[in-house]
Amino acid sequence: MHSPIPGLGRVMVFLAAALASASLAVPEDREEEGVQYGQVGTDVTLSCAGAHTGSPVQWRRAGAAALPEGSAVWQGALVLPHASLATAGTYSCHGEDGGLLHAVSLQLGYLPGVPFVSCRASDYENFSCSWTSSVETFLPTRYITTYRKKSLTGEEKRRNKNGHMGPCLQDPSRPGTCTVHGSEFWSSYRLNITEVNPLGSSFRLLDITMQAIIKPDPPEGLVVEPIPLAPRRLHVSWKYPSSWPKEPHFQLRFRLQYRPVIHRSWSVVETVNLSEVITDAFAGLEHVVQVSAKDFLDAGNWSEWSAEARATPVRDPATVASEETTTDTSLESLAEEPSQAPNPEPINHSDPLEKTAVLVSLGIFAFFVLAAVLVITILIWLRVRKHGKDKTKPHNFLVAATHLKALPKAQIL
Ligand SMILES: *[C@@H]1O[C@H](CO)[C@@H](O)[C@H](O)[C@H]1NC(C)=O
Ligand SMILES: *[C@@H]1O[C@H](CO)[C@@H](O)[C@H](O)[C@H]1NC(C)=O
Ligand SMILES: *[C@@H]1O[C@H](CO)[C@@H](O)[C@H](O)[C@H]1NC(C)=O
Ligand SMILES: *[C@@H]1O[C@H](CO)[C@@H](O)[C@H](O)[C@H]1NC(C)=O
Ligand SMILES: *[C@@H]1O[C@H](CO)[C@@H](O)[C@H](O)[C@H]1NC(C)=O
Repeated sequence: MHSPIPGLGRVMVFLAAALASASLAVPEDREEEGVQYGQVGTDVTLSCAGAHTGSPVQWRRAGAAALPEGSAVWQGALVLPHASLATAGTYSCHGEDGGLLHAVSLQLGYLPGVPFVSCRASDYENFSCSWTSSVETFLPTRYITTYRKKSLTGEEKRRNKNGHMGPCLQDPSRPGTCTVHGSEFWSSYRLNITEVNPLGSSFRLLDITMQAIIKPDPPEGLVVEPIPLAPRRLHVSWKYPSSWPKEPHFQLRFRLQYRPVIHRSWSVVETVNLSEVITDAFAGLEHVVQVSAKDFLDAGNWSEWSAEARATPVRDPATVASEETTTDTSLESLAEEPSQAPNPEPINHSDPLEKTAVLVSLGIFAFFVLAAVLVITILIWLRVRKHGKDKTKPHNFLVAATHLKALPKAQIL
């Protein structure tokens, strides 16, 4: 399992569905004393171990007045035809004097089904598979989990034609999951997950390649900060997921999603860096940001989104000024409709009031811009007329236009 470059050949797969039934934890008892297993729907025969051949025996069922319907004693053995789950229980056989000869606990259930299996790698060194049973068998169950590795590189392929075999290790603290350690990125694996119970076994084979199943854990340590004096910008930084071993040839790339808290749709940007500057945030609105990661060479899937982080870009001084004027008008209109807003609460920055304020200030701003354009047009027109008469000072016109452009801004403030 040595790869030419340390770490290069190691892959981690993580199985997605991780439901474990209680039966998974039950250790397999070999020839458990006094327990007999039977399959639902079949005829079950209980033999009376202590009876002398030929002497009559009597069968009893613990906690019940009678034996199940249809049962018969044949040559000392109890035959339970077409057993159902309700037939399970403790049975005992007794001699003519009533003395106990033998007792047996009968457990009934089903043959194992083919388990559902999925695998995932949250890094490239180890991968895990998890499984769930497809049939509730009502019987103690265990799993045999193995893999066979097929190298994708020609040299190794020749060296071991049938591939290397090994166990997919089960950890008792994580039932329903096994892990292949030291996996190789360029190999394919055939997993054999076998469900075993006292009645039989059933296996599922799953072919895995690391490139297909790698899915990093989400990035960690996400921090979002406003940038002073930049009302549309937010600085975002994060760290590699701690489960990702840092090696130069296995890097991650990232994508960022962000939106104002009051909006529904996300904006997404991708980056290879561990930080990014959002340049189209909305001044004064709280934004929510998340980040996810993927293998640099696009193998496998994007990670889940990280935990959210929030920040509010600094307020644009111009916006603050216009909001202050519009706030008064909004409150006046609220006073006229007391049923809608009984308490004029302090301004809630994410409520519709602010939206109205923003709209009104946008309207006022648009009005000033229009007015400015109009004034400039008139003045240019006047200048052009004058210019036509006086061609000796052509640059004066430009100087005048520049001054006039500066004027509307001052008016807005
Ligand atoms: C992979 O498994 C090995 C052996 O158990 C362990 O030393 C290593 O830390 C694991 N790698 C990761 C990234 O968890
Ligand atoms: C899967 O594993 C089980 C238990 O080890 C074994 O009986 C079965 O033959 C294996 N199946 C294949 C196709 O290797
Ligand atoms: C990543 O950061 C470096 C400097 O830190 C910068 O030169 C580069 O443009 C950034 N790349 C992207 C994709 O943002
Ligand atoms: C990875 O994505 C593909 C489709 O893009 C999907 O079918 C597959 O289930 C995903 N795998 C995991 C482990 O999420
Ligand atoms: C602001 O208003 C929204 C809905 O209008 C509400 O969900 C939120 O809790 C309010 N926040 C504060 C701080 O009052």
